[in-house]
Amino acid sequence: MIESNAREAIVRQRYAAGAKEPADKLCCPVDYQSEHLKVIPPEVVERDYGCGDPSRYLREGETVVDLGSGTGKICFIAAQIVGPKGKVIGVDMTDEMLEVARRNAPIVAKRIGYANMEFRKGRIQDLALDLELLDRQLKQTPITNAASFLAADELAEELRVKHPLIVSDSVDVVVSNCVLNLVEPKSKRQLFEEIFRILKKGGHAVICDIVSDEEVPEEMQNDPELWSGCISGALTEDGFLAAFENAGFYGIQILKRNAQPWRTVQGIEFRSVTIEAFKGKQGECFERNQAVIYRGPFNEVLDDDNHRMERGRRYAVCDRLTISTGKRPIASSSNSSTRSSRCLWLRQSRSIVRERHSAIRRKRKARITTLQPRRTANAATAAVAADLK
Ligand SMILES: C[S@@+](CC[C@H](N)C(=O)[O-])C[C@H]1O[C@@H](n2cnc3c(N)ncnc32)[C@H](O)[C@@H]1O
Repeated sequence: MIESNAREAIVRQRYAAGAKEPADKLCCPVDYQSEHLKVIPPEVVERDYGCGDPSRYLREGETVVDLGSGTGKICFIAAQIVGPKGKVIGVDMTDEMLEVARRNAPIVAKRIGYANMEFRKGRIQDLALDLELLDRQLKQTPITNAASFLAADELAEELRVKHPLIVSDSVDVVVSNCVLNLVEPKSKRQLFEEIFRILKKGGHAVICDIVSDEEVPEEMQNDPELWSGCISGALTEDGFLAAFENAGFYGIQILKRNAQPWRTVQGIEFRSVTIEAFKGKQGECFERNQAVIYRGPFNEVLDDDNHRMERGRRYAVCDRLTISTGKRPIASSSNSSTRSSRCLWLRQSRSIVRERHSAIRRKRKARITTLQPRRTANAATAAVAADLK
């Protein structure tokens, strides 16, 4: 069996080599939007180790963190989409990857006319610990014996609290392209919790990764080539969704699922999926005179909290539902002056809800959001449904 720190060392070695020379076995072909690639130096584009394109789901002005940013391709695309008012932070643990990304960042910044990206060294399962800061401190007080080892542990804890690599509740969107599978099994839970921690309420994660259609057997997990090649660390498709749910995410949606497996090993299919998941169910929920209509094609749908909605009917909702349906909460998209009150609609009987509907109609103020997901997600949902038939 490979120890988890050995797995991490194997991953680091393989991607250090992949930063120096392009390695074709490490990627699954992706069509990035060509207009965004024009300003990115070939050295970066050639070292593409992704399996999807989370940048398609970004918007202007957002603060984005890219987990396992590699040579920086997704960050450089994101920088153009979020624009000068947005910000992009790439996180990677491999020095050689960071070196390529940091060297190319000023070139991209010059070409797009602004510098809104930076690259930080950290492990994505521990986004509070700034590894470069820790390195600097350890140079002054190196670990030489048990006592200094224990002191280093305390120092790391202090740095997490006082100088976190990524501050809690500070990010609009966490993206990642083919990296989560590389995190050792014992840290996977913490990894999803870390993604949740750094997101603002109403923020969301858009994660492209490889998943499997069966549990990966232990002997495959112990194969260093398969592990570092984004194969045997893959979670199962349902395990991946459950990992978001267990971390507290809401409104989880499969945005894209490749019908064709990328690889099939020992009869197990490994394919790329793109998942979106929201943070926002927790804490207060404010009503802002919003209503939703489920457009079909089904008679009715049930949300994550067991609220049933019939096709074509209007339902008053609070921010939580707009989040859970893949819509941005109105709170984060405008400074609406509408009355905010603690929203208990989810406990209301249908008749009370109907009364609210009339009130909303009378005021003609309701913002109507349809429960059909966004344009891109519509196509993806249909595709997934077709895949699963
Ligand atoms: C498959 S490559 C993907 C790179 C990039 N996202 C892309 O689209 O080309 C995986 C990257 O994640 C980094 N990585 C793997 N495990 C990591 C971890 N636990 N913490 C931080 N970075 C990690 C590797 O150094 C490598 O750059």
